[in-house]
Amino acid sequence: MRTYGEWAVVAGASEGLGAAFAAALADRGYKLVLLARRADALEAVAAGLRGKVEVVTRAMDLSAPTLEAEVREVLGAREVGVLVCNAAHAPLGAFAQRPLADGLRALDVNCRAPVTLSHLVLPGMVARQRGAIVLMSSLTAFQGSPFLAVYGATKSFNLSLAEALWAEAKPHGVDVLAVCAGATRTPGYLKAAKTKAPGELEPKQVVDETLAALGGGPLLIPGAFNRFASFLLRRLLPRRSTITVMGAQTAKLLP
Ligand SMILES: NC(=O)c1ccc[n+]([C@@H]2O[C@H](COP(=O)([O-])OP(=O)(O)OC[C@H]3O[C@@H](n4cnc5c(N)ncnc54)[C@H](OP(=O)(O)O)[C@@H]3O)[C@@H](O)[C@H]2O)c1
Repeated sequence: MRTYGEWAVVAGASEGLGAAFAAALADRGYKLVLLARRADALEAVAAGLRGKVEVVTRAMDLSAPTLEAEVREVLGAREVGVLVCNAAHAPLGAFAQRPLADGLRALDVNCRAPVTLSHLVLPGMVARQRGAIVLMSSLTAFQGSPFLAVYGATKSFNLSLAEALWAEAKPHGVDVLAVCAGATRTPGYLKAAKTKAPGELEPKQVVDETLAALGGGPLLIPGAFNRFASFLLRRLLPRRSTITVMGAQTAKLLP
């Protein structure tokens, strides 16, 4: 991994992949700004890393309309070298049966927040001619995802946004990467999963592959099985079949 600067910001850092990103970035010497809603869970992540690096935590709701001002205030004059947009809201279930507010919250956390955070840090990165932005996407980005309809659509948004920023920022020394993860054994995923999914990865595997892939991009699918399955689904099966396969897989998570 190149050296991108002094500070890394991880949005959605209180558990799972976000906590794994925080640990891996601390191992690589980055000072950390960690964001999520639960102050106690954030502090627990930070406590394990404070021996290694300086860590600032801020409990905040990334769906809040005040997000830009709040993050500006937390960052102050810190020069952000790495931004990881990891937080997500994933309403599971049939679209028509979920409250509208849940879908709109997914738009705020999964789309509005990455746009806001990237817009806050990218100009400084471009000016310094170095930086990295990771947008967490998903295998749901590549087709409609029944029972995760809004979440899947937001992950397509993340992929598209990352690809565009990758092309705009690369000439300025800034690396942008969309990470289209498959099933990853985070606490959130394990709560919903009743059986083992093919190709499941540990959070650390996803994070290590991600940090190693920075500078390439614009897209990473972590895990050899996931790359192969995604190739088959995207290139060989008709789109209708791919949507059906994804829906059948997600239906296994329904309560
Ligand atoms: N796990 C998988 O199988 C999988 C597969 C494909 C893609 N991904 C992607 O990988 C990323 C992380 O997945 P994960 O399984 O680790 O997710 P997770 O367990 O649901 O954790 C998400 C993180 O985001 C934070 N968060 C959620 N809503 C927030 C809000 N409104 N404001 C602030 N923070 C918020 C959570 O902390 P608080 O609750 O403390 O706020 C938590 O730290 C997501 O973008 C997801 O789409 C995961």
